[in-house]
Amino acid sequence: MSDQTDQAASNNPLKAGVIGFPIAHTRSPLIHRYWLRLKGIDGTYDPYGVEPENLASFIGDLAAKGFAGINVTLPHKEHVLPLMDEVEPFAERVGAVNTIVVTDDGRLIGRNTDGFGFIENLRAGAPDWRADQGPAAVIGAGGAARAIIAALQDAGVPEIRLTNRSLDKAVALAEELGGPDLPDIIVRPMEDRAALCTDAGLLVNTTSLGMEGKDPLEIDLASLPDHAVVTDIVYTPLKTALLAQAEQQGNTIVDGLGMLLHQARPGFEAWFGSSVSVTPMLRAMIENDIVST
Ligand code: ATR
Repeated sequence: MSDQTDQAASNNPLKAGVIGFPIAHTRSPLIHRYWLRLKGIDGTYDPYGVEPENLASFIGDLAAKGFAGINVTLPHKEHVLPLMDEVEPFAERVGAVNTIVVTDDGRLIGRNTDGFGFIENLRAGAPDWRADQGPAAVIGAGGAARAIIAALQDAGVPEIRLTNRSLDKAVALAEELGGPDLPDIIVRPMEDRAALCTDAGLLVNTTSLGMEGKDPLEIDLASLPDHAVVTDIVYTPLKTALLAQAEQQGNTIVDGLGMLLHQARPGFEAWFGSSVSVTPMLRAMIENDIVST
């Protein structure tokens, strides 16, 4: 019997959710509830504020409480790793889990779908982008950068050029994610960031610079080739100063909202057994929510 048939037989709705602390601003329930409605699935997806000291017991109880799985957000993404029965290789490499799947026999599988979300958003927003077209310039060396760099390595970019305000973090990240059979990760100081653009096929901002209320990311894009794509993980505002600057220069731009939407797909598919896509209506709904809050 499939999971869904089991569930129908027991008459219980399939149960998923997202944990974080604080959790108030998560848009994941809007996304998953949209798909549940669209697919006519009897399921729930709720936010749970879980304080760090309660993380282990919450995770330990997932199967007993009937969860099909959960998403994990800040500050728990790294801390859930040792609580899993199995961590998928990509999540292991990134060192963070954003999606937990509870198997039929109660085992917990940790996955990371942020890299998938990043690449799917890039391919949807810039269908002409080819990984082998040129190096990828990455600004920032935090948690998001780790998933994005690993995904770019897997996508086949020839080289990654990395910079970060704290250079030591970029150096450490390059050492951890680099490998003999993987594209080089070249680290440059933040003040040399304009040089990262030369011959690049992609420029990614993974920092919080450009977010509403924060300083913009200032970078000279003059040496960026015309075919290069510029993308930002910041999605408040949707068009950051960096994206506006790149668009004015004639480069293709991809905003960060799609990464949030696409990273949600694998979790939904695993928990609720139904494949989903990022529709214009879903995107419009989340855009409206962003504008109104
Ligand atoms: P996330 O998980 O979203 O990546 P994070 O791990 O806190 O969040 O990383 C935030 C990133 O934004 C880091 O690269 C950080 O630079 P530092 O490592 O030097 O802290 C970057 N960042 C945040 N504020 C910044 C600022 N004002 N100027 C430059 N970089 C900034």
